[in-house]
Amino acid sequence: MKTPTPAPILVTGGTGTLGSHVVPLLRAAGHPVRILTRHSHEPTVGIEYHACDLLQGDSDALTTALEGVETVLHLAGGPKGDDEATENLVRAARTAGVRHLVYISVIGADRIPLAYFRAKLGAERAVAASGIPWTTLRAAQFHDLALTVAQKMGKLPVVPAPGGMRWEPVDARDVAARLVELTLNDPAGLVADLSGPEVYGLGELVRQYLDSAGRRRPLMPVRMPGKVGRAYRTGENLATAGATVGTRTWEAFLAERKAG
Ligand SMILES: NC(=O)c1ccc[n+]([C@@H]2O[C@H](COP(=O)([O-])OP(=O)(O)OC[C@H]3O[C@@H](n4cnc5c(N)ncnc54)[C@H](OP(=O)(O)O)[C@@H]3O)[C@@H](O)[C@H]2O)c1
Repeated sequence: MKTPTPAPILVTGGTGTLGSHVVPLLRAAGHPVRILTRHSHEPTVGIEYHACDLLQGDSDALTTALEGVETVLHLAGGPKGDDEATENLVRAARTAGVRHLVYISVIGADRIPLAYFRAKLGAERAVAASGIPWTTLRAAQFHDLALTVAQKMGKLPVVPAPGGMRWEPVDARDVAARLVELTLNDPAGLVADLSGPEVYGLGELVRQYLDSAGRRRPLMPVRMPGKVGRAYRTGENLATAGATVGTRTWEAFLAERKAG
């Protein structure tokens, strides 16, 4: 007897940094994948693309993307509007009868008073209130983002190093592996945070990047003012007790990038 093909998994943001690690893992586990993106792409084996902007509200494109889908892995995100985009997705997913909605959020969503974190918290709440069985993972900043920040800061003649600001960056491949595990299991609600294996001062992250790029820049300690500065100094962006820890360090990531 022929084994029935599993239902496609809809991955919003499947074209992004995280999504491009997630999609091959889902394919390797034997699942057809539908990627929701704002742009059109040619399909490849086992992967369809659906063009849809989640910020445009309910749309026929979103309804079509959700047809026959039981599991949604929601990775699409940007600097603004993740709460609104998620509310739009949730409404359509509920109507489509989705059975598991998996969401990627950020550590500190409930504690860092910045618009991006507030929007992630709003999105988390939309997922939790959706009536759809759900799983949400809060991850630390990815190495790729740390690299972008370090590259930008490293271009300045003097690099400002905010005192007391620490990051525990995680590799996007570790996040992808954990998300796929969660996606293929039962809905679990808000699961343990996922951080990288080490905590670094922001200045230290930039210094290590400069060393690996063979460049020198003076670092100048600065104090981040206000509520945001206080939240970072008290480590509100760091993983909470019982976190899952990724395997790859910042040093290993930099060495890999240098070699590659
Ligand atoms: N980067 C980090 O350090 C970090 C840490 C914790 C959590 N996260 C979360 O992880 C997720 C993925 O991050 P990433 O770094 O992989 O992001 P990314 O590389 O910037 O990719 C963003 C993805 O979202 C899609 N997207 C953006 N706005 C959209 C919209 N309005 N409608 C439909 N699709 C949209 C983009 O698709 P197209 O451009 O193809 O349309 C792209 O695939 C985000 O939710 C982010 O908040 C990131």
